[in-house]
Amino acid sequence: MKESSSQARSTWSSRWAFILVTIGSSVGLGNIWKFPYMIGLQGGSAFVLVYLLCILLIAWPLFMAEILIGRRGGGNPVSAMATTLAECGASRFWRVLGWVGILSALVILSFYGVVAGWVVDYLCKAIVGVRVETALEAKRAFDTLLGNPLQLAFWHTVFMVLTVGVVARGVVSGIELANKLMMPGLFLILVGLVFWGAVAGDMPAALHFLFDVHFEAITPDVFLAAVGHAFFTLSLGMGAVMAYGSYLDKKTSIAGTSIWVVACDTLVGLLAGLAIFSLTFRYGLEPSEGPGLILQTLPLAFSNMPGGRVFGVLFFLLVTFAAWTSAISLLEPFVAWLIESFGLRRATAAWGTGVAVWLLGIGVCLSFNAWSEYTLFGNNLFDVLDIATSRFSMPLSGVAIAVYVGWVMGKRIVAEEMRLPHGIFSVWFAVVRTLVPVAIALVFLHAITG
Ligand code: PHE
Repeated sequence: MKESSSQARSTWSSRWAFILVTIGSSVGLGNIWKFPYMIGLQGGSAFVLVYLLCILLIAWPLFMAEILIGRRGGGNPVSAMATTLAECGASRFWRVLGWVGILSALVILSFYGVVAGWVVDYLCKAIVGVRVETALEAKRAFDTLLGNPLQLAFWHTVFMVLTVGVVARGVVSGIELANKLMMPGLFLILVGLVFWGAVAGDMPAALHFLFDVHFEAITPDVFLAAVGHAFFTLSLGMGAVMAYGSYLDKKTSIAGTSIWVVACDTLVGLLAGLAIFSLTFRYGLEPSEGPGLILQTLPLAFSNMPGGRVFGVLFFLLVTFAAWTSAISLLEPFVAWLIESFGLRRATAAWGTGVAVWLLGIGVCLSFNAWSEYTLFGNNLFDVLDIATSRFSMPLSGVAIAVYVGWVMGKRIVAEEMRLPHGIFSVWFAVVRTLVPVAIALVFLHAITG
């Protein structure tokens, strides 16, 4: 459809376009980098089970609530909050929710872009055929990258230019087009990798590790990690889903489209886990490696397996696509706010915001080396930004969104926007009013006290 040349806002060209871009936002480093290493650290299948429950009972209902606010408000997160609160007569205080979202998204983007830069570096290494023979060598290669601020800054810059370049082109001819090109590629590569993992790796061991039920391994910490990750992977509480929802036309069913996004996001995480762990086990590597899992453990497997070079290139291309489409959705909410509040041209808004985020990202690059002694409670800048967003602003926004939709907006408006059969609506609404805020609040309290 049309771009917003005049005052009219863009809308996605179809319901499927919305599904695709929202999958693009949700499927990211969270699914392919973080999810597998968290499974490894949190005791395998216990984490997977709790995570699936969290997605179904907490994150998915909230995901619908966030789309709902965006579409009802028909603007960037700040103006969507202003419009909906005016409609329901709520306190202006609620605008904070929009602000927290668009600003936290920029903070996440600053370190997300740095990690994505690592991935692009590994992609280039895989293309030129760099090999690692031992675990020590793989660790050294990763440490060398982290210790080199120029190299980190270079790849971070490349990634930010890619991200801003897409957002600057517009909602339909930039964001939608980029997702239409990258997402099918991502799925094809992923299916190919799982297949290859089944042939060249130890798939039964991976299946046991991910799906054997061990109730005794479920601890409060596993629960905490699972809820946090369910939020992160569905891009909740950051204005991204709200902003994308604001370009959704009024006729489309929120519940019907969100099912696809949630299902695909979960499937991608699980498939990535299967591909990664079947190689990890086949080559006798450590599943609980932590953040280095795909950057230290996998390159070792790639160097040893038949067809490992092609596998390596495809794998890092997959992660690059995933990170890129997510980063786009982290930038768009703030850019939309600049355009709609100050009448800026999209390109100016996108590049201007990009430079600010890039600068913060340079600080993140330095926090691994030159600035590593500057810490807060033992955390470097990278950790501080990660903790501030994933442990604080994400859950707090989550509770606020649930309370706003469940208790403040009013049942009539919410029902009108959801257009669900009465019984299903009542169940969803009850979950948003009670289970979601209580569960997130408990998890949040545990996180800050424990
Ligand atoms: N969902 C993305 C991922 O899994 C990260 C993200 C968080 C994107 C918040 C947008 C907003 O990697």
